[in-house]
Amino acid sequence: MELLSKIATNDGHGENSAFFDGWKAYDSNPYHPTKNPNGVIQMGLAENQLSFNLVEEWVKNNPKASICTAEGANDFKDIAIFQDYHGLPEFRNAVARFMEKVRGDRVRFDPDRIVMSGGATGAQETLAFCLADPGDALLVPAPYYPGNDRDLTWRTGIQLVPVVCESSNNFKITRNALETAYAKAQESNIKVKGLLLNNPSNPLGTLIDRDTLIDSLKFTNDKKIHLICDEIYSATVFTDPGFVSIAEIVQESPNCNLDLIHIVYSLSKDLGFPGFRVGIIYSYNDNVVNCARKMSSFGLVSTQTQRLIASMLSDEAFVGRFLSESSKRLGNRHKFLSKGLAHVGINSLKSNAGLFCWMDLRRLLKGPTFEAELELWRVIINDVKINVSPGASFHCSEPGWFRVCFANMDDEAVMVAINRIHKFVVQTKSGKQMGRGKLEISLSFRRLDEIMMGPHKMSPHSPMASPLVRART
Ligand SMILES: Cc1ncc(COP(=O)(O)O)c(C=O)c1O
Repeated sequence: MELLSKIATNDGHGENSAFFDGWKAYDSNPYHPTKNPNGVIQMGLAENQLSFNLVEEWVKNNPKASICTAEGANDFKDIAIFQDYHGLPEFRNAVARFMEKVRGDRVRFDPDRIVMSGGATGAQETLAFCLADPGDALLVPAPYYPGNDRDLTWRTGIQLVPVVCESSNNFKITRNALETAYAKAQESNIKVKGLLLNNPSNPLGTLIDRDTLIDSLKFTNDKKIHLICDEIYSATVFTDPGFVSIAEIVQESPNCNLDLIHIVYSLSKDLGFPGFRVGIIYSYNDNVVNCARKMSSFGLVSTQTQRLIASMLSDEAFVGRFLSESSKRLGNRHKFLSKGLAHVGINSLKSNAGLFCWMDLRRLLKGPTFEAELELWRVIINDVKINVSPGASFHCSEPGWFRVCFANMDDEAVMVAINRIHKFVVQTKSGKQMGRGKLEISLSFRRLDEIMMGPHKMSPHSPMASPLVRART
């Protein structure tokens, strides 16, 4: 008899993949400008740290927002004992209002439909529990966020069916690709219960345009399946065209079946608060709202956090300032990195949102295979000493694409990274001409071993030391 359950013993969390070697390499040798200038630069982390000074300033100016200050302590007891899974009304109001603001005040959100969860991670899983049974599937345009595999499938037993999107049309989602994925699932007797879109996209940094949203809504309505839109990066857009939420399309489509529409949101990216675990399910389906709210007991946002967020987001002047400044800083950083890459002959997908560039290294591969992609990635982590994420981990159908995050570091570190990439490209070119490419790669493998076996070696299975929680972002 098995001692533990199938969930406890299966690999659904995905921690044992090659993808995490990069994290381990970073953790054992992290870059520091003075203490460790030759260390690994972490560009595998989709965190928005560029506007934290604005938040810190607000926190200092608003001590009453916290129950752990002299100014806020009078509310300590009320907040500490509150445990209603509807959440604090002021929290739901403030989040609904914030979501409207991020969408240019072109849509309205009903605070009574705001259901909280432990980050978007919890929101995705809760929706999966509400919408599908074990064995059922959701279609997901690929490349997609690797955490979807864990969040949507591990504990729910549902499956994801990739919708193959290609570089030939900038990874746009087409009706044809949706129909193909749907038909493939049906041929395998898999019941498709919905389509999950991520707009703006992680890892592409691109927006789903209005027409594609309309087509996707039509597709899901025709098939009578759910449409889930993960809009966690909605406020990271830095240039035109602006973000169009599925909420706008729904508002303009009186004939669509509202019971099939659900939005996932979180404050992890737009505000840069992944540690607060503020996730939101916004469903237009009353039954889903009711069920998800009951399930939210398993992943409530602490009332202390709710209260602070309610206070911060209710400060409309601050929110306005933060949103415009954050988008400006992200835009500048994106320009800095993408221009720096272009300068050394590396293209990235044209994008105007997100915390990353989708870098095209296809011409540096030894061949058009995922083995070659993995090999190149190991060279990048070991020799160039940058942790970027290979396309395979996003289920990209074409080898040679890499995601490079840019908002979790300062300008100086980005500059160092660009210089290293420049050196690497020059070396690779001359190495190839001299037939040295292979030697460089085998040396790199040896070095990775050295890193992994070194004194700072971490157990890949240790939950205490696990880089995985962050590695999935
Ligand atoms: C597309 C996408 N959805 C969901 C998540 C999970 O976010 P959270 O930290 O709110 O759980 C992430 C995190 O990287 C993400 O990129």
